[in-house]
Amino acid sequence: MSSEVSQSQMLNELKQGVIPTHVAIVMDGNGRWAQAQGKPRVFGHQKGVESVHQAVELAAELGVKVLTLYAFSEENWGRPKAEVSALMSLLETYVVKERQRLNEAKVQFRVIGNLEKIPEKTRKLVLETQKQLSENTGLILNIALSYGSRNEITFACKEIASKVEKGVLQVKDISPQTLSDHLWTKGLADPDLFIRTSGEQRISNFLLWQIAYTELYFSPVYWPEFRKEHFCEAVRSFQSRKRRFGLVSEN
Ligand code: IPE
Ligand code: IPE
Ligand code: MG
Repeated sequence: MSSEVSQSQMLNELKQGVIPTHVAIVMDGNGRWAQAQGKPRVFGHQKGVESVHQAVELAAELGVKVLTLYAFSEENWGRPKAEVSALMSLLETYVVKERQRLNEAKVQFRVIGNLEKIPEKTRKLVLETQKQLSENTGLILNIALSYGSRNEITFACKEIASKVEKGVLQVKDISPQTLSDHLWTKGLADPDLFIRTSGEQRISNFLLWQIAYTELYFSPVYWPEFRKEHFCEAVRSFQSRKRRFGLVSEN
């Protein structure tokens, strides 16, 4: 069987089951992948772009509504300057090169994170792209950039506190939904499936509030080698889970 045939068969099989509405991915392992072949870490980041294409395409093919990709964490600012600037220019190249293709595929592009820290040129390109694709009705591609969940929650608390101070919100009316509504992900459903590549089994400050009841999937594959079939494997695993949300399952 050709790989194209087996891929479309795999897609059809998955489509018989429940498709996660929101998938969040920690794209990890670029540096180790590159180093394993004697190449600089940045080579791994460059190769990782192809995996982004594949993930976006598969998410759209499956009918996933939101794909959130962890591209750069708040903590990643502490990496060597050269690596940080290589990552920023990769991001610039990605948005400039892909804008049209994403638009044709009706993808809505969004960014979440502490964007003030992003160099001006990169920020401008990213925000321009977000604006240009904002009316699209297909897959929401949500890129977490300069993102840290604890920061996101702290910002939300400050905003809520300032509303209380101004008298536009009362303490008794603050609920978990209030907090959700003040996060950068406001308006998006919580992730159903969380994927982390590279074998690491940790969250690394990603969507802490939002993943309260998300199914977790850890793949041993390094991000530059993560292909549609690996993503399908994660969705297949998701489909085999019994989500109980603290309740008793009926039978
Ligand atoms: C993920 O790969 C990409 C970013 C964090 C920007 P890493 O750069 O973390 O690669 P490893 O985990 O060191 O292999
Ligand atoms: C998390 O990966 C951030 C991204 C993938 C963008 P890291 O490689 O930065 O996380 P740690 O350091 O292994 O926890
Ligand atoms: Mg890493």
